Amino acid sequence: MQILKVENLSKIYGSGDTAVKALDNISFSVDKGEFIAIIGPSGSGKSTLLHILGGVDIPTSGKVIVDNTDVYAMDETALAIFRRRQIGLIYQFYNLIPVLNVTENITLPLLLDGRQVDKDNFNHMIEVLGLSDRLSHLPNQLSGGQQQRVSIGRALIGSPAIILADEPTGNLDTKNSAEILQLLKYFHTNFHQTLIVITHDESIALQADRIISIEDGRITRNEVIRR
Ligand SMILES: Nc1ncnc2c1ncn2[C@@H]1O[C@H](COP(=O)(O)OP(=O)(O)O)[C@@H](O)[C@H]1O
Ligand SMILES: [Mg+2]
Repeated sequence: MQILKVENLSKIYGSGDTAVKALDNISFSVDKGEFIAIIGPSGSGKSTLLHILGGVDIPTSGKVIVDNTDVYAMDETALAIFRRRQIGLIYQFYNLIPVLNVTENITLPLLLDGRQVDKDNFNHMIEVLGLSDRLSHLPNQLSGGQQQRVSIGRALIGSPAIILADEPTGNLDTKNSAEILQLLKYFHTNFHQTLIVITHDESIALQADRIISIEDGRITRNEVIRR
């Protein structure tokens, strides 16, 4: 079952002499439960693509369809709801809210959406993430690896259609990187969670089901490496 379809996506920043073509006619689709690695040089358009997939940046032209919904045909209100319910975003520098503790950071997306926290689901998640004894800690009381585990919890708590991660291990040492990848793979394998991960780390890319390479805003390779 197809969960994401991208059609002829282009993004131009600015205009006239200073215009930058960040994405140049990108098309691909993703099945539910796939794990995709996106690789490519710095400045090639990877983050721009991820932001547009997640409804946080607007394409200049082209379409993004998530779970049969045409993302950029929605009005602002519907788009905000779409982002909260269907997209889980994970960033290199965690982007946790400094004044909220671990429990509050993880459950915030549900509360913003007026949804109840399912206690069993929450407890299972924090156990898998190894955060059970850190629930009342603030982000600045946690290591980088722990902060990234909180951001994984926050991304997953609402059972989104897709997890989008932009260099999730880019700020971590080898051991913590491996742990973060193991966690993402746990949710991918056990909950059939669709994952799209931008990475510079070849050992991470090689664990994906498919690798998409981007250069100068174009797809130069789109190869299934595992079924
Ligand atoms: N908000 C922006 N305004 C202008 N140019 C941007 C903006 N965001 C990204 N760019 C440009 O678009 C290109 C692609 O950037 P980006 O998607 O961040 O690449 P990557 O994530 O692959 O390093 C780069 O040339 C970058 O300078
Ligand atoms: Mg980037």
